[in-house]
Amino acid sequence: MNRFLKFFKYLKEKGVLWTFRYVFYCIGKRWDNKLCKLLIKIEQKNYIVGDWTLNAQKFTRAQNISAWNRWDWSEKGEEWTIDEKWKKELITKMIMPYTKNKGTFLEIGPGGGRWTEVLQPLANKLFLVDISEKCLSVCKDRFKHCKNIEYCLYDGRHLNFIKENSIDFIWSYDVFVHINPTDMDYLLRYFKKIIKKDGVAIIHHSGVGGREDGQRSDMTKEFFAYLVEKNGMRLISQSKEYVHFPGDVISVFSPV
Ligand SMILES: C[S@@+](CC[C@H](N)C(=O)[O-])C[C@H]1O[C@@H](n2cnc3c(N)ncnc32)[C@H](O)[C@@H]1O
Repeated sequence: MNRFLKFFKYLKEKGVLWTFRYVFYCIGKRWDNKLCKLLIKIEQKNYIVGDWTLNAQKFTRAQNISAWNRWDWSEKGEEWTIDEKWKKELITKMIMPYTKNKGTFLEIGPGGGRWTEVLQPLANKLFLVDISEKCLSVCKDRFKHCKNIEYCLYDGRHLNFIKENSIDFIWSYDVFVHINPTDMDYLLRYFKKIIKKDGVAIIHHSGVGGREDGQRSDMTKEFFAYLVEKNGMRLISQSKEYVHFPGDVISVFSPV
């Protein structure tokens, strides 16, 4: 039914007062959405983070905990693998060159262990850090034979349970795309503390900001580069190659 017909139907059924109030409510709601998108764009352009920002009200830790605790992990995250060729290329180009010397690794958001399976044999010790209890329990079960994994449930912001200057390699794929810029800023502050001077972090995140079709958070390539530098680290590269979703970016950076 078109809007015009709906208007007369409501007038007849619900009366003048209710109908006009409803019309004003709809107009207000539409403007509220538009205004919200506009403010988020301004935050993106000016690299603004903080608990009071609009970007921090979306992709919250509570939403992520609820979503990923309810997810069916029976496919172990392989439902997002385009094909074996893509996966092999990502591993060969983005994991292998940075993990030759073994050491202590940190994976943020392992999900069903899609990348953990690759990282575990390459690490002396591997921290798996997630906000979802379910993901950690899926991984505990999948990797129960592995003695070098430590499982950590955390609040999505604080990595203070990891010793300073102790991590050689940080990996996170398909996780930061669902984290808001303010929470990312918290995590990057900890990265600076925990990565060794010659360590490296590789993070996959949204590059174009807020694509609704892929549930992408309001992060851009430039915004992420700014946050890396704001937190005292050095950006090595940002690449659009090897990502499974158009508009995403993989950022490589180090603490010095
Ligand atoms: C789409 S799944 C990806 C899982 C895995 N990395 C993969 O590529 O198959 C998202 C994962 O990120 C985790 N996650 C979401 N927000 C997080 C946060 N703030 N900190 C750490 N993990 C988070 C979820 O619990 C889940 O394990």
